[in-house]
Amino acid sequence: MQTLHLHANDADLARAAGLLQSGDLVAFPTETVYGLGADARNGKAVASVYEAKGRPSFNPLIVHVPDVASAQKYVMWNETAQLLADQFWPGALTIVLPLREGHGLSSLVTAGLETLAIRVPNHPTAQRLLELANAPIAAPSANPSGRISPTTAQHVLDGLFGKIAAVLDDGACTVGLESTILGLAPDVALLRHGGVAVETIEKMLSVGLSQETPKTITAPGQMESHYAPNEVVRLNVSSAMSDELFLGFGPMQCDLNLSENADLIVAAANLFDHLHQLDKIGKPIAIAPIPQTGLGRAINDRLRRAAAPR
Ligand code: TXA
Ligand code: MG
Repeated sequence: MQTLHLHANDADLARAAGLLQSGDLVAFPTETVYGLGADARNGKAVASVYEAKGRPSFNPLIVHVPDVASAQKYVMWNETAQLLADQFWPGALTIVLPLREGHGLSSLVTAGLETLAIRVPNHPTAQRLLELANAPIAAPSANPSGRISPTTAQHVLDGLFGKIAAVLDDGACTVGLESTILGLAPDVALLRHGGVAVETIEKMLSVGLSQETPKTITAPGQMESHYAPNEVVRLNVSSAMSDELFLGFGPMQCDLNLSENADLIVAAANLFDHLHQLDKIGKPIAIAPIPQTGLGRAINDRLRRAAAPR
């Protein structure tokens, strides 16, 4: 299969939407990372997402919709969901709610669970694609399972060329980290750190979200080794050894810097791209300490998994 490299113009968007409607896979930009999209009602299309990523099939996917009204077709909406949506949608928050009867989604999307993870992405091209396709779009990050997530169309092509119908290119993702996942089915539980800092959600809902290791579900993002470069990764080091590449944070001598001004938002946006770049050079990677506050918690979560023994 030749993977088409499409751009964010009317003709290409229509083409991408048409591919989704006929059950093909299209990678598309969101503000967090590039997603690998499939029509969530089409079991064959969803199966080919698992196939293209080489993803273990017990792993449920996030469904992307253009607005709250569309979300309500698929999940049992509640007050907390509305509060969160008012504050964070469109945006980098995924919420997990009980599936609604007659939802019409393929059971492969939820891997047989009674709940659905759903999100309204904050990206104009994603929004236009969702409208044109007029379908709920299941989309995991558009990378081979277990590897570094993609924040550019080129990352997608590096990992999935020949395995998907098209990638819709609209530049680099601004957030650069996957969405924060919050369970609401029915207890509020943090299922994954991500693009919305947990402190912000805690403040809004007046709850503590200390639960960092979900017990009920196994997913790549929750497995120890994930987001893995080819080479060995060492964390929290103040200087690299001679055979290592050094990924810095804050003012320092290094091969690449996540943010010279120690800005965590900039660091999040650069994280996966810098890991992709260093990984291409093919040497072990040493990484400077990142503060464990705000988006730093999501960054450290991804780095811990990148460094985990495989
Ligand atoms: O930012 C993002 O969330 C990106 C973009 C494309 O939207 N998507 C993404 O998807 O990161 P993925 O498949 O790489 O991660 C989905 C995570 C997995 O860890 C999965 O276990 C969890 O969502 N998940 C999906 N459905 C769930 C459910 N019903 N209950 C609990 N966790 C769920
Ligand atoms: Mg992923």
